[in-house]
Amino acid sequence: MTAPIQLNDPSLWRTEGYLNGAWTKGSATTTFAVTNPGTGEIISGDGLPDMTLADTQQAIEHAEEAFKSWKKTTEYERAAILTTLFKLMKEHAEDLAQIITVENGKPLADARGEIAYGASFLDWFAAEAVRNYGDVIPSAIKGVQNIVVKQPIGVCGIITPWNFPNAMVTRKVGAAIAAGCTVVLKAPPETPYSVLAMVELAERAGVPKGVINCVLTDKNVQEVGRELCTSPKVHKISFTGSTRVGKILMEQSSSTLKKMSMELGGNAPLIVFDDADLEKAVAGTIISKFRLSGQTCVCANRIFVQDNVYDAFAEKLAAAVKAFKVGNGATEGTTHGPLIHAAAVNKVQSHVEDAKAKGAKVLLGGAKVDGPGFFFQPTVLTEVPRCAVDEDETFGPLAALYKFKTEDEVVERANEAAVGLAGYFFSENISRINRVSAALEVGMVGVNTGLISQASIPFGGVQQSGFGREGSKYGLAEYQNIKLVASSL
Ligand code: SIN
Repeated sequence: MTAPIQLNDPSLWRTEGYLNGAWTKGSATTTFAVTNPGTGEIISGDGLPDMTLADTQQAIEHAEEAFKSWKKTTEYERAAILTTLFKLMKEHAEDLAQIITVENGKPLADARGEIAYGASFLDWFAAEAVRNYGDVIPSAIKGVQNIVVKQPIGVCGIITPWNFPNAMVTRKVGAAIAAGCTVVLKAPPETPYSVLAMVELAERAGVPKGVINCVLTDKNVQEVGRELCTSPKVHKISFTGSTRVGKILMEQSSSTLKKMSMELGGNAPLIVFDDADLEKAVAGTIISKFRLSGQTCVCANRIFVQDNVYDAFAEKLAAAVKAFKVGNGATEGTTHGPLIHAAAVNKVQSHVEDAKAKGAKVLLGGAKVDGPGFFFQPTVLTEVPRCAVDEDETFGPLAALYKFKTEDEVVERANEAAVGLAGYFFSENISRINRVSAALEVGMVGVNTGLISQASIPFGGVQQSGFGREGSKYGLAEYQNIKLVASSL
């Protein structure tokens, strides 16, 4: 099938899975459709192959076979391939961005930003690969030398989400490749084309056959996920997605005690203290809350504003949100795109209705937008009481403004969530900045900023937001085993 969009390089639009260096439908007997959330139109022609359990088993075997030689490549060889892939991404950045927008819906400017973000992980891990230092540890046993080396863990099962269809691939696969691992990648059914385009570029960059395998499916996601988790040949699972699914994958992986990285759901608090610079706080809230129309794991979900700046902040925030241009991401000037599907729109609606029923007031928005596409009005609610938003991330463009009086009270509220991915606060008081940064029970804190993501930082959460870190100097270790070699001299 030809691409539904004009690409400079139409061969980036791949329509099959990838096993052992060959594009294939595998043993699929049915297909699944991909929808452009900005228009509601099907963009997958006759559909993509719904690959099967048997295909996943094959993919694992190919990855296991490829690992035998891939693990022996030098860090310099792997870094060179990652650097070539980085350059190819830069060269094809516009096509890759167009592919993101047509299947994910995000505005082109954001899609271009995602490609730059995605490419930065390749650059980062190319440099980290050649810094794969070990240790020599002083020995308590006379005549014995202790050397610690870091070795690739083996075949990795990698399950990526639809919200960053490109960057979450490079964040995980970039680290795996740098470490010397091989991978079986399960592409998200909502946004498979971005993943396939990256696999195509990886092949062009010289990634040998079997090192990256990609399985496509919608109908068989549960069987495919279970196989990745239970196969004794897979030694690591990296998953970005919901806490609910993360728990299932962890339970399934327990039979083989796999190493896991889990980047799961959040319910980020964002706190505006009365000593904040309100302009900064509004700008930070806009980026944190409304990035990708509220569909990132690190989006602010509960916005707590101190009582004496509450009205002023709410007014400024609503004015800024009112200026958004909501629409199809491919349309010039669109600042905020659609949600991924109708169910996502319904969830935002249910959170708004629940908050209203309990006493919240609608300052802006508050309703679905009639189709085509899956849109919800950017919404600001005030006087928000305890409601569904406290319990669950909305994953949509709803700014729920809670009022608080004291620092102790708000820190306690912020830490009530069972999840702890990101947290943000705005204050110009240095003592408070130190206190609150220390007190927030999250993996990442943004102080006077709503944007924390970059390749060099340890991305990840605590509690039911999962464990493990991606990107940064810590990200490579997630794909490695530590081995002690104690030798008698
Ligand atoms: C995510 O939403 O899972 C990733 C967000 C980011 O990397 O900023």
